[in-house]
Amino acid sequence: MSALKGFITIEGGDGAGKSTQIRMLGNYLEKKNIPHLLTREPGGSIGANEIRQILINGQLNKWDAISETLLFYAARRSHLVDTIWPALKEGKLVISDRFSDSTMAYQVYGRQTGSITKEQIEELYHLVAGDFKPDLTIILDIDPQIGLSRVQKRGEQDRFEASALSFHERLRQGFKEIAAAEPRRCIIINANQSEEAIHQSIVQLIEERFL
Ligand code: TMP
Repeated sequence: MSALKGFITIEGGDGAGKSTQIRMLGNYLEKKNIPHLLTREPGGSIGANEIRQILINGQLNKWDAISETLLFYAARRSHLVDTIWPALKEGKLVISDRFSDSTMAYQVYGRQTGSITKEQIEELYHLVAGDFKPDLTIILDIDPQIGLSRVQKRGEQDRFEASALSFHERLRQGFKEIAAAEPRRCIIINANQSEEAIHQSIVQLIEERFL
């Protein structure tokens, strides 16, 4: 079986189980001998990992919405240029734990400062990525109360996980609106199911679209 190259992003609120699902998907692709790369944002390249540290750690109000968005996009450009595009060129299936929909959901819908608009984010996206887009975006949807209680059980919270419940409710709504606007690219999966059931839904989607 040979893989068609493609770019898949996994999105969702904090505590939706993305990391577990990406690990399970990686094991599945490994067993099937499908060339792939698992990566994540913010991060995924040397430069982007450095930016990750200054974005994730520290006080909630350390950055205003504009600075924060620009930092996420600087990291994204580095991730695309140094990691994602070269891997796709090599014919790999690239799976990223978060990508641009997270910026729209967190920095616009979640923060809701009004200081940065959807249109401005779209322009920034175009500057950084041109016409390139994920071929498939899987959004793991979870009630923020359940997601955040999972995060609390894990221990330390990052800047975003420490935000109020209303913030997480807004970003859940943001992901739903993003999916409604691009129903072919974005598929929502109910993340309040067993890990195995979610994994099976993801595998089915990937088999249908890429294998
Ligand atoms: P992670 O917990 O999935 O590693 O992501 C780190 C945090 O960064 C998470 O709370 C979501 C947030 N984030 C944004 O606010 N905007 C973005 O563009 C990305 C990629 C992540």
